Amino acid sequence: QHKIILDCDPGIDDAVAILLALASPEEIELVGITTVSGNVSLERTSYNARRICTLAGREDIPVYAGCTRPMLEAECIHTTVHGNDGLGNVKLPQPAFSLEPQHAVDFIIHTLHAEPGQITLCPIGPMTNIALAIIKDPTIVPKIKRLVFMGGAAFCPGNVSPTAEFNIYVDPWAAHVVLSAGIPQVMFGLDVTLQAKINAPYLDALEQVNPLLKTATAMLRNYGVSDPCLHDPCVIAWLIDPSLFTGIAGKISVSYQDDQHRGQTLVAVKPRHLDDDSTNIDVMTEVDNPRLLEMLAERLSRL
Ligand code: BDR
Ligand code: CA
Repeated sequence: QHKIILDCDPGIDDAVAILLALASPEEIELVGITTVSGNVSLERTSYNARRICTLAGREDIPVYAGCTRPMLEAECIHTTVHGNDGLGNVKLPQPAFSLEPQHAVDFIIHTLHAEPGQITLCPIGPMTNIALAIIKDPTIVPKIKRLVFMGGAAFCPGNVSPTAEFNIYVDPWAAHVVLSAGIPQVMFGLDVTLQAKINAPYLDALEQVNPLLKTATAMLRNYGVSDPCLHDPCVIAWLIDPSLFTGIAGKISVSYQDDQHRGQTLVAVKPRHLDDDSTNIDVMTEVDNPRLLEMLAERLSRL
């Protein structure tokens, strides 16, 4: 069983990732949700995370609000594809519980010290909270079991610029701090998440299952892109069943100083004279999408 902290910016696909984690208690213990400014403002992501837990009847999941903006910019760049409210403007319950008083950065630091080597960090938004935790207390680094994240585009074009993916583009400084810290890390970038496509017949079947899935599919139908993909749920799906994915070891760096290539994730792989012991990341490149969709439907129907 994986003990995880899900660091997120819900976000429609973030919401599905939360639901998938809640639906899989045998494989995943969700110790806490931390929120960050990304798809929408921090205030909104913190509200949305609690609406999703409330929808699933899980008011017991502690939610901690984190950083209001990226490290080096006064304003955070937001998206429009998740609707004004961040969850496709679908009717959802009001949160039935409050935010925890502790700041997300302090919760992350505290939890890693309390359970060294036990916690997997799963950022599925900009990495500001994780970077600030590392900067505030670098002694947490060796206590992180693994970092499994959605972000970047190693071998394919970006989605917000020709070379950058949204999560890394929003706070490339944070991504640099985190991805160069020496944490064992697994990357779910656009290389793989763009293969995790959903289609209308799938949603038609899913929405019949139960009222919760009717709401979840309504959100997915309002994803403001022509070809909706389950970016963030890939992270959780891998923890549940890594055999769904294929990847390659490499060495990553993030472009954070150059405006033109802002947020680009550069990954060197083997044939380019790379020693095995100099690799610092597993980059996922392929998913068996039919099996992923089947697993997701089976899990979500348990809620
Ligand atoms: C990422 O950007 C966000 O809009 C999604 O929630 C996902 O985390 C995909 O580029
Ligand atoms: Ca996200």
